[in-house]
Amino acid sequence: MSTRKFAAVAVGMTLALSLAACSGGGAGETEDDGAAGGGTEETEGGLIGVAMPTQTSERWIADGEAVKSGLEEAGYEVDLQFAGDDIPTQSQQIDQMITKGAELLIIAAIDGTALSGQLQAAADAGIPVISYDRLIRDSDNVDFYVTFDNYEVGVQQATSLLVGLGLLNADGSEGTATGPFNVELFAGSLDDNNAHFFWQGAIDTLQPFMDEGTIVVKSGQTDIEQAAILRWQQETAQKRMEDLLTSAYNDGSVVQGVLAPYDGISRGIITALQNAGYGSGDKAMPIITGQDAEIASVKLIADGVQYSTIFKDTRKLAEQSVVAAKAYLAGDEPEANDTETYDNGVKVVPSYLLESDIVYADNINSLLVDSGYWTAEEVASGVSE
Ligand code: GAL
Repeated sequence: MSTRKFAAVAVGMTLALSLAACSGGGAGETEDDGAAGGGTEETEGGLIGVAMPTQTSERWIADGEAVKSGLEEAGYEVDLQFAGDDIPTQSQQIDQMITKGAELLIIAAIDGTALSGQLQAAADAGIPVISYDRLIRDSDNVDFYVTFDNYEVGVQQATSLLVGLGLLNADGSEGTATGPFNVELFAGSLDDNNAHFFWQGAIDTLQPFMDEGTIVVKSGQTDIEQAAILRWQQETAQKRMEDLLTSAYNDGSVVQGVLAPYDGISRGIITALQNAGYGSGDKAMPIITGQDAEIASVKLIADGVQYSTIFKDTRKLAEQSVVAAKAYLAGDEPEANDTETYDNGVKVVPSYLLESDIVYADNINSLLVDSGYWTAEEVASGVSE
């Protein structure tokens, strides 16, 4: 996914955003005292801080670039920072954004509970805070949340696992397989609120099959704490899969399905399985799910190695964050489409939720190529251009 494509999306937003560019600031009462733009070259639209967690996952790079180009098209200056998944670095970056006079913050937190000092400083300065994709928890000082329907993402992951095993058909009707199937469960990082929503959606979907014994978690590790992978790291997932194979599958039995919540985790699991001989001879690769439609995983799906992923169009998420930013900076409230689901421990944060899709080998083209998210060449090579 090239910057060029995001620029094209941003052009589409230009008209809608031109109003915000004209109206400039207006985010907080501190505007008049010259706080806006302090320390940085002032542009017509003022400065917006965009804090992203890491560059190790391509989605966050794409998110960051898309938000930046959308805001710049609207006339704002953007301070985009990635924190290398390091909490103190992210805190420091946000501190600096506030010092530089940011009029609004868009934050995808590493740890959803770790930014209270920065959020208080933002609130004191009248700076609106938009929580991006991941909910900021335990703070009153978060104004809006743009994300996907995260519970539904978990439902989709589990559904694709059931489809792959033959227990369900793609249309949701009952499949012909009877099982029982050996399945292992992975979750994301416990400090990321999303991980809990993905897990809940997936477990609620799998539970009836586990109750009737059609799905068997042979390791017995069915708690999110046991399944969690800190910071969503590929290597940690590989290690856990290796440990599971050694401890629960040393009796000749095989793993037939793995619930994986994110493509990086899926690839770690696949490496562990390949090293143990899966995917060759008569040891079939299990049905493995994912999330984010990362290009390396899309190729693995096309090649029949990974079974599915969840496509969350980050261009649309970025666009929503720009729309919300524009509303605040024009002195309005952004439009929410969910005001019930996302309780951050202190308050329910008004949210705008987007929809996601299950990607299988047979709809890569219609979902990802036709929409311009990846090119056919990128899918064939597994590398983004
Ligand atoms: C989550 C996000 C997922 C995935 C994961 C790992 O917060 O919702 O889409 O990107 O982080 O980066």
